[in-house]
Amino acid sequence: MERLKSALDHALACHPDADRLILLGDLTHSGKVLEFERLKSLTDQCPIPVTFTLGNHDNRDHFRNVFANVEPDENGHIQSVIDIGDYRMVVLDTLDGPPFRNYHHSGKYCAARQSWLDQQIATAEGRKILIFMHHPPMDVGFPGMDAIKLADGNAFLKRYAHKATHLFCGHIHRTISGTTNGLGFTIFKSPVHQMPMELSGTESSYSVPEPGAYGVILLTENSIIAHTEDFDLANDVIEPRDDAHPE
Ligand SMILES: [Fe+2]
Repeated sequence: MERLKSALDHALACHPDADRLILLGDLTHSGKVLEFERLKSLTDQCPIPVTFTLGNHDNRDHFRNVFANVEPDENGHIQSVIDIGDYRMVVLDTLDGPPFRNYHHSGKYCAARQSWLDQQIATAEGRKILIFMHHPPMDVGFPGMDAIKLADGNAFLKRYAHKATHLFCGHIHRTISGTTNGLGFTIFKSPVHQMPMELSGTESSYSVPEPGAYGVILLTENSIIAHTEDFDLANDVIEPRDDAHPE
């Protein structure tokens, strides 16, 4: 939680004009009520509206008990929609749960959740769809993590890739971008620990103490721009270089 606080302090100092903070999950390590309470005490102080995305380390019931102010969808999933300008951001709940240690680490997007997403897309009134979800539906080249991506990810992409403009995911703990089924995607690093560049390992629990980071998304009329900020390394005060613009 200290690392998240540090990331949040840095982000709020550098980007106080942000419209929204989206936490892509995991929100906790083991889904305990106490962990969600600690998270709430932090995010309650955030002056920017916060949207939460559940991950495989979370527990939906415990989240709902602590974050009673967060409205679930009609089936109790933590899914939400944010309209900003010409964009509709849909934040999906891919947790295959509920209780931690009694479910799969891979993600799930069931028929009820698909029905919710279909409805959000159908009512978007021309806005471009941006999908936010913890589990990537596609492989990223790390065998250990690909084994716990969104189950039935191919079917998800067949159904939604052509309806969305960009996809943002968590779960992997490494900066990755590319396209899948014609859909551009961005995966951000974690504020805590990172996935090593290990393309042959079959474990999902690799971790290296590379600097923590958060992403900054800029939405313009024609572009979706994703920055990543290693807040541990970044300088709070940026001085111009003497030779930046020689006369
Ligand atoms: Fe995860």
